[in-house]
Amino acid sequence: MKDMLESIARDAKAALELATTKQELENIRVKYLGKKGELTAVLKQMGKLSPEERPVMGQLANEVRSAIEALVEATDEKIKKEELIKKLKEEKLDVTMPGKKSALGHKHPLNIVLDEVKDIFLGMGFDIATGPEIEWDYYNFEALNIPKDHPARDTQDTFYITENMLLRTQTSPVQIRVMEKQAPPIRVISPGRVFRSDAVDATHSPLFHQIEGLVVDKGITMGDLKGTLEAFAKRLYGENTKIRLRPHHFPFTEPSCEIDVTCFKCGGKGCPMCKGEGFIEILGAGMVHPKVLKACGVDPEVYSGYAFGVGLERLVMFRFDIDDMRLLYENDMRFLGQF
Ligand code: PHE
Repeated sequence: MKDMLESIARDAKAALELATTKQELENIRVKYLGKKGELTAVLKQMGKLSPEERPVMGQLANEVRSAIEALVEATDEKIKKEELIKKLKEEKLDVTMPGKKSALGHKHPLNIVLDEVKDIFLGMGFDIATGPEIEWDYYNFEALNIPKDHPARDTQDTFYITENMLLRTQTSPVQIRVMEKQAPPIRVISPGRVFRSDAVDATHSPLFHQIEGLVVDKGITMGDLKGTLEAFAKRLYGENTKIRLRPHHFPFTEPSCEIDVTCFKCGGKGCPMCKGEGFIEILGAGMVHPKVLKACGVDPEVYSGYAFGVGLERLVMFRFDIDDMRLLYENDMRFLGQF
C-alpha cells in the first residue's frame, strides 16, 4: 500500500507539471483526489491492513492528499498567470495606427442664449429658481389673479391632466412658489419649459421656453424694473441697444408693460424685420399685483416687487436671425451645425 500511495504522489506531480489549461487541471484533480479517484480507491483498502499498519498508512495517505492539493493550487495560480500574459499579448495595441475621429457636439442655440441670460442675471445678484412643468391650476392661474372664468385663460389654453392639474402655460407660477417659500428680499429668475395648446407654425409651438424674473423687497419701483431690464438688453444685444416700455395688461401685474428693444437688424431706423418700427418686442413685465403678493403671504403695504417674462425662442431667433421657430426643435444637423 505504501508503494501505491507513493506512486500516486509521483504520478500526480508529473501530470500536474504538464497541465496547461484549467480543464486539464480539473481532470487531474478528479482523477487523483475525486470521490472515485485513485487515492479514495486506495483508502478503501485500509480495512485489510493490520491494526498496527493502519495509522501509519492513514498518516501517509493524508500527507499525499495535502501534497497533491497544494500542487493543484500552485498549478492553478500558474495557469491563471500564463493565461493573463497570453491575453495581454493578444490584445496588444498598435499605438501608431491612425485614430477614429469622433464628432464633438456643442450647445444648442437655445442653450447658448439661455446660458448667456443666466450669466447676466447671476452677475446682477439673481438666483435661479425652478418649478414643476406639471402644475396645479392654482399656481398657474388662480394665485396669479386669473380666476376660473377670466378671459386671459382663453389665450393660454393648455393640456389638462385633470381639472385641476395641467401643463403650465407660463413660468409665472414659479413666482408664487418662490414667494410661498421665501421671505423678501427675493431676486430670482426662473427659466423653463411651458406648454400651450397652439398649432405649430413659424412663430408658435405647443412647447416653448420662458424665463421669468421676480424681485420683491421694500421700496421696489418701476424704475428698478426699467434699469435692470435695460442693463440686461445692453448686455445681450450690445451697448447701443435702447429699450421702450409700452403699457399693456397682465392680470398678475399692475401696472403692466411690454418692453421693446431697438431692432438689431437696422439699429432702430426701421426695416422689414421690425416692420418699420425700429423696435422689437421681447418681454412682458410689470409691478407684482397686490393681490398676488397677498395670496403668497407678503404684505403689499410693506413690500413691492416687479416681475417679467421673456420668451427664450424669440431671443434666440432675433439673435441668430432665424425666421422659423420649428428649426429649433427639428434636430437637423445641417441647421444645428451652424452655431
Ligand atoms: N407670463 C406672461 C406671459 O406668458 C409674461 C409675464 C411674466 C408678464 C411676468 C409679466 C410678468 O404672457
